[in-house]
Amino acid sequence: MCATEQNTTGQTARKKRIFSGIQPTGVFTLGNYLGAVKNWVAMQEEYDCAYSIVNMHAITVRQDPAKLKKQTLDSYALMLACGVDPQKSIAFIQSHVRTHAELAWVLDCYTQFGELSRMTQFKDKSAKNADNINAGLFTYPSLMAADILLYQADLVPIGEYQKQHLELTRDIANRFNGLYGNVFTIPDPLIPKAAARVKSLQDPAKKMSKSDENPNAYISILDEPGSIIKKCKRAVTDSDTVVCYAEGKDGVNNLITIYAAVTGKSFEEVAREFDGKGYGVFKQAVGEAVAEHLRPIREEYARLSADPAYLETCYTEGARRALSISNRTLEKVYKKVGFVKPCL
Ligand code: TRP
Repeated sequence: MCATEQNTTGQTARKKRIFSGIQPTGVFTLGNYLGAVKNWVAMQEEYDCAYSIVNMHAITVRQDPAKLKKQTLDSYALMLACGVDPQKSIAFIQSHVRTHAELAWVLDCYTQFGELSRMTQFKDKSAKNADNINAGLFTYPSLMAADILLYQADLVPIGEYQKQHLELTRDIANRFNGLYGNVFTIPDPLIPKAAARVKSLQDPAKKMSKSDENPNAYISILDEPGSIIKKCKRAVTDSDTVVCYAEGKDGVNNLITIYAAVTGKSFEEVAREFDGKGYGVFKQAVGEAVAEHLRPIREEYARLSADPAYLETCYTEGARRALSISNRTLEKVYKKVGFVKPCL
């Protein structure tokens, strides 16, 4: 069932649908939270949202099975702890919903080798995993396209670095629609202006990543306050002393971005607040504000992890709803390509 809302003329209009996914490859960082998940939470009011822990994408690089299992459940709990409401939104684990793999196969046959070869993420990841450049790593974008197109998503909140994958999703969908009529909604990227682009604390040229070898480079959203403050104090800045957002001050700019995001203050307000105070005081304040901002998430996560039965009902219900919606799209696709329908 589509969620509906009354518009001013009294007619019912379909809310726009959102789809997004996150890989269960570690505890989310402050960057994942401020750049993505926090916005997922905010969008639940206005849109019809589906959010997935994409464990099938995760195995495109080799994973330890026991660890993947734990991280999948932990990521799911974390997503709820951050405020994704399993009643309002469809919150599910990708491998629970078979339509993703099924549509991905069909889309593989409508995606060109040349297109996949041009994906910069494929080039980066194959350079990093030279001993395991598997077919899944190569066709990763068609699985991502399947995720999105199955739900007829109108909007897909993504980071900058996923833009190329979304472009390809649109190309695949347009190609398919061109051949068979309007099967898929063409999704638009949603790169929220308000989303903070958080960088590594040790190398502000890179994005903050949970797979960084140096744990001082990122803040995990479950880090203890003491550790958060320590990491902020060790953050790379510059030889200047003035707290202001300016060209060439990448490290300080990053800390200002973080502080502004967690306190709701503007960059100018932050600069005024720390006028004449120096980096030491500023870094301490950033650490304390981040620790305080993450406290309720950490507490909610502890509560949820102690209740695996509740989590199980949430992801089971999420999978059921996701399957019911996505299967409609899959059936349409199977019909269009000429697959015989069984009487099972
Ligand atoms: N590729 C995305 C990432 O690594 C995760 C992802 C998988 C995704 N499927 C998606 C994001 C569908 C948005 C929509 O960040």
